[in-house]
Amino acid sequence: MVTTRFCDLFGVEHPIAQGGMQWVGRAELVAAVADAGALGFLTALTQPTPEDLAKEIERCRELTDRPFGVNLTILPSINPPPYDEYRRVIVESGIPVVETAGFNPEEHLPEFREAGVKVLHKCTSVRHAIKAEEIGVDAVSVDGFECAGHPGEDDIPGLVLIPAAARRITIPMLASGGIADARGLVAALALGADGVNMGTRFLCTQEAPVHSRVKEQIVAATERDTELIFRPLRNTARVASNSVSREVVEILDGGGVFDDVRDLVAGSRGRKVFEQGDPELGIWSSGMVQGLIDDIPTVAEVIERMVVEADDLIANRLPGRGAQ
Ligand SMILES: Cc1cc2nc3c(=O)[nH]c(=O)nc-3n(C[C@H](O)[C@H](O)[C@H](O)COP(=O)(O)O)c2cc1C
Repeated sequence: MVTTRFCDLFGVEHPIAQGGMQWVGRAELVAAVADAGALGFLTALTQPTPEDLAKEIERCRELTDRPFGVNLTILPSINPPPYDEYRRVIVESGIPVVETAGFNPEEHLPEFREAGVKVLHKCTSVRHAIKAEEIGVDAVSVDGFECAGHPGEDDIPGLVLIPAAARRITIPMLASGGIADARGLVAALALGADGVNMGTRFLCTQEAPVHSRVKEQIVAATERDTELIFRPLRNTARVASNSVSREVVEILDGGGVFDDVRDLVAGSRGRKVFEQGDPELGIWSSGMVQGLIDDIPTVAEVIERMVVEADDLIANRLPGRGAQ
């Protein structure tokens, strides 16, 4: 069984994490990931208030007695959510690990450190990974251009980004973006990562709390069926291709401004996609890796398959490819 220093650092069996996912990172998914021996993250901002996050943490604890974390996504916003209060709930609930993302987490680190909460920072470039190590996070997830959600503006795919980061940082690192199976896990290890972080693969599991038609859409979609929205605004996000995301791209490419797409990209519409199961209702995140996903297994099956097949790849396929 593949184990790495990531497993030692976070006290999990397998070097696999389930990254935060807006509207998806709820107790049933995160508990299933924890029970399967990997590291799952509740998504703080999916809960409307810090008090609701506290309740969701309790609900997750009723479902699993294994460790799990909370994702705190820090995005620039005119009316920011009360990040300090979400952070306080995380600390007071005794959560052992936080996945920060979206912005430099420096202002949150002293309180996390004081409470013994480990920080896994997710970023999209080598320079941000170096910065994260400098300010003292415990580990990084490095998201390549393939990823669902925000890939940054550099457009460097994982095949280059992960080894480029590996040679510059010393703390444990997960490869993120474009990974759905044992091949991705073994490749990530070969590239210098200590494990993998996945979003889209976990979105397309039995336990993900979203409508089954969304999962069927991911199975039907190919690697070509994503759009990069907000590119001209330099806040790029990779989302599933549908009539709404294509319209957003067209409006912004044609010189439109955020106000012209505000209604189309409303979070409430994306949420309805997951609740009602109509993939055309709004914007929802999905990565290129959907092209490698062709079933809707349980979380335990995803992880079991990955670790068993990774062992087989390493023990049987790769040695056969070596010099004779
Ligand atoms: C539906 C969905 C919602 C996501 N929401 C968030 C989020 O709120 N915060 C965050 O840091 N990452 C978010 N992500 C990104 C994932 O945590 C992860 O970094 C990404 O999915 C990795 O790429 P992959 O989908 O190719 O595995 C989301 C991904 C998906 C699929």
